[in-house]
Amino acid sequence: MIHTKGKFIVLEGGEGSGKGTCLEFLKENLSPKKNLFTREPGGTKIGERIREILLDSKNTMMSVETELLLFTAGRVQHLHEKILPALNRGQNIICDRFNLSTIAYQIYARKRENYLDIFNKLEMLFIKQVKVDLYIFLDLEPSEGLKRVTGRGDGHNRFDAEKLDFHKRVRNGYLQALKKYPHKIIDASQPIEVVKNEVLKCVKVIL
Ligand code: TYD
Repeated sequence: MIHTKGKFIVLEGGEGSGKGTCLEFLKENLSPKKNLFTREPGGTKIGERIREILLDSKNTMMSVETELLLFTAGRVQHLHEKILPALNRGQNIICDRFNLSTIAYQIYARKRENYLDIFNKLEMLFIKQVKVDLYIFLDLEPSEGLKRVTGRGDGHNRFDAEKLDFHKRVRNGYLQALKKYPHKIIDASQPIEVVKNEVLKCVKVIL
């Protein structure tokens, strides 16, 4: 693992957990010079193209294996093209989702626990060059999260369209995966003002 000058913070959460609002709040409150905001899937030109394929609800034929590898491919590109160079320059990275999303969605929610080994091998080979300093998980009952997303009325991607049970497995997957990583769990059922400020406080402790 390379020790970098900047810090790496990841915000994770299920659908409707308020992640987007919290990220906006962080952007307003943190120096844009010292902190680079990015997201997954995406973050680079190549990654954004992979994102389109992954989220397109017309892609009903995509296999879980393809999904797992595409998220990983986008992440490897993101790491080499953007995350590592920024950390080495001394910038902090604040990333909207990262590898724990893959464990939660592709491994647990898609019921592919047998792929945990493959996931870990891919991480060892391609991702372990970087250490995440803190994962912040916005924890919310999936039924509440889905209500919020429906209320927003914005376009559904392939994952929003999944049933409640899928999102319950996502949450369970996160809670399992987090145990192995430095993390903070924030109760996202609280008023958004409280959640936003708790997130900012966690970030400031690290930076
Ligand atoms: P996005 O519109 O960015 O959703 P959100 O605002 O909830 O972050 O869509 C990203 C979707 O991709 C989201 O439903 C979670 C899913 N995802 C995975 O399934 N695996 C992954 O590794 C990542 C990074 C995201």
